[in-house]
Amino acid sequence: DLPDTFDRPVHIAVIGGTGLYKIDGYKPIARVNPSTPWGYPSAPILILEHGGVPVAFLARHGAHHEFAPHEIPARANIAALRHIGVRCVVSFSAVGSLQEEIKPMDFVVPDQVIDRTKGIRPFTFFEGGLVGHVPFGDPYDDKIAQVVRKCAQSMQGDGVVLHRKGTAICMEGPQFSTRAESNLYRSWGGSVISMSLLPEAKLAREAEMAFQVICMATDYDCWHTTEDVDVSMVMKYMESNSANARRLVGAVLDELCRAESSDLVTAKHWEGASKGAVMFC
Ligand code: ADE
Repeated sequence: DLPDTFDRPVHIAVIGGTGLYKIDGYKPIARVNPSTPWGYPSAPILILEHGGVPVAFLARHGAHHEFAPHEIPARANIAALRHIGVRCVVSFSAVGSLQEEIKPMDFVVPDQVIDRTKGIRPFTFFEGGLVGHVPFGDPYDDKIAQVVRKCAQSMQGDGVVLHRKGTAICMEGPQFSTRAESNLYRSWGGSVISMSLLPEAKLAREAEMAFQVICMATDYDCWHTTEDVDVSMVMKYMESNSANARRLVGAVLDELCRAESSDLVTAKHWEGASKGAVMFC
């Protein structure tokens, strides 16, 4: 019953993961489903509105959680968001903790990622004769990260614990890690582990978008005890903390909406990242 077109550019988007399917206080005003050269996004993109500013919401795993991490149409997702005008993306992901001090239900704003996917997910827009190498030394956007840190700080009294930095591991899955792998990632300095952080961040960089993931720990993976992580554990913690997750993401969006035409939200600092990456020989 929502309109299927929206004629203003939408600069800000949220990609919701397991457990984050809506944002409190944001009113749905349209639902669009742009076709891209890489197909349709995981789900139609919901356009929400708050204080006159439109925000896009995309369910990474599909409207009914039908895409496993390796099946997510990440190129279509990023291309569809870019097509409707998005330049600033806050992505949300449930993760396993690889460190004692990151407890289930804590939030982490990673500043690094280690790619342990296996090359089976399409991971670039540059192919088929167009060769490009974007810089990826800092995979996330520190300006958005600062907004997240500030919002979480003001929610500390409500039980929100946020780790300001961290190294995320993105594994292939869909099976969880072995204990040997989990310990290997710890020895590499990994803070958290997930199956869905990449290639989203790589594609967002190629699309010259400001992109930051917010992680929420749902388990201690399998290194911590002799008890393995399983889906019921992930869902239990996700459900117990989903109100905090929605409030944190909502607070971050409020800040970004206030700065809707700023250089941060229009991603001025990433302009040219891809143009300068293309090899013309
Ligand atoms: N997502 C949530 N918990 C996870 C874990 N332990 N490993 C990989 N992905 C996860």
